[in-house]
Amino acid sequence: MSKDTRAGHTAGRESGGAPEVGRRTIIQGLAVSGCLAASGLLGSSPAGAQSTRPQPGHHFVFMTGDKEGQPVAPDDVKIGEPPLLAYPMDPATKTVLISRASLLLLMRLKEADLDPSTKPHSADGIVAYSGICTHEGCPISGHHENQRMAVCNCHGSTFDLGNNGAVAHGPAVRRLAMLPVTITDGALVVAGKLDGPIGPPAA
Ligand code: FES
Repeated sequence: MSKDTRAGHTAGRESGGAPEVGRRTIIQGLAVSGCLAASGLLGSSPAGAQSTRPQPGHHFVFMTGDKEGQPVAPDDVKIGEPPLLAYPMDPATKTVLISRASLLLLMRLKEADLDPSTKPHSADGIVAYSGICTHEGCPISGHHENQRMAVCNCHGSTFDLGNNGAVAHGPAVRRLAMLPVTITDGALVVAGKLDGPIGPPAA
């Protein structure tokens, strides 16, 4: 089923998001912890804090790997590859938003795998969704032999990214929130807002 694991740590249930932090802080945190859950940045937002969710106009940066913290170009997202985990970045201030509310997954699907309801929110086959599993909150990093599917390696929940992130196999019961994207001046850009709740339902 699953072909790859880039992360597999339970992030807990949705509670909102963490405060925005600067890029340097983010990268240092990830380098030390090596995982999202251990970064200590998954708590709730203080009253009055700016939204940590991706906003229209944001770009994407790699969450991990050799290009950690670097911008994600459209060509970095290839058909047949596992989900690419990324965070949104304000291109004006270079601030990267790191929280469970802002963790995103990117995949490029074949044209034929994009349902009519999903295609308008994609860009050259690239789709973006919340990267947090709606079962128990693991980052979603596994691939499926069916290339339109992404798999959570914690318990095997499978999501159809060609159909609005619908649950194809449980135990998750809630679809992934989708994030519209576009390509502007060669950059992959957020074109809207996440269209639903993130992570597991509150207990
Ligand atoms: S946390 Fe994803 S399947 Fe359980």
